Amino acid sequence: MNAVELIGFSASYGRKEVLKNINIGFKSNSISAIVGPSGCGKTTLLRSINRTAELERGFNCRGDIRIFGQSVMEVKNVSTARRQVGMVYQTPVALPLSVKENVLFGPRYYGGKSRAELDALVEDCLRRVALWDEVKDRLKQPASQLSGGQKQRLAIARALAVEPQVLLLDEPCSSLDPASTGLIEELLEELAVGLCVIIVTHNLFQARRIADETVFMMDGQMIEKGPTSKLFLAPSDEKTRSFFSGLVG
Ligand SMILES: Nc1ncnc2c1ncn2[C@@H]1O[C@H](COP(=O)(O)OP(=O)(O)OP(=O)(O)O)[C@@H](O)[C@H]1O
Ligand SMILES: [Mg+2]
Repeated sequence: MNAVELIGFSASYGRKEVLKNINIGFKSNSISAIVGPSGCGKTTLLRSINRTAELERGFNCRGDIRIFGQSVMEVKNVSTARRQVGMVYQTPVALPLSVKENVLFGPRYYGGKSRAELDALVEDCLRRVALWDEVKDRLKQPASQLSGGQKQRLAIARALAVEPQVLLLDEPCSSLDPASTGLIEELLEELAVGLCVIIVTHNLFQARRIADETVFMMDGQMIEKGPTSKLFLAPSDEKTRSFFSGLVG
């Protein structure tokens, strides 16, 4: 079963249709990349999966999105749907809290864990994003003091802390240097064991380095999806070929 499935999914802002009848499945235990020209609908697609797109004025959609077979459109409590799906944004966002409280933001909201469990969770999440050794002596200090690359790893730790089944990342490395980018790519490969990771990237080399499957979108449509090497080396669609050879986008 696919971890995430879009079925005849279309979305508009006002009258402008920005996603057009998308049918696509994303697997668990794997990294999928979404690439395509600016404005083609990549962010809208991610934000539809965790139901934050509907916070935008004029947003409306039809079709269905299922997570492990269950429709996210039908759930009564939207925060339950959002909990299954972690999201990391382009600009590293550290909440105006300590390092520790950044990780615990979600777990405190949902409640139900003891102090010892929360402490263990902080360490576990920070280890998973290879940040523990760098911050273990300053867990109580403001997260704003961390570097951009550290903040982005912290944002991933915060997303992991509610034990999502799906992790969405919207150009997570675009403001980072090559070393921080390399670190994040490495940890995404480790995290993909047991998780469905979907990453939007403008960096085709990044898609090629880490994604098992790649989706190419253009003008709100899914043009092609397949094993990453196939899209790079032997795309089926002429538009994909043009994009990957740098002719459009
Ligand atoms: N809140 C909004 N209100 C109205 N139109 C919007 C809104 N957000 C996005 N759009 C429009 O929807 C289309 C898709 O935008 P989206 O942000 O999903 O594209 P994208 O592929 O993520 O682009 P980029 O690569 O530049 O981030 C664009 O035409 C954009 O102008
Ligand atoms: Mg975007």
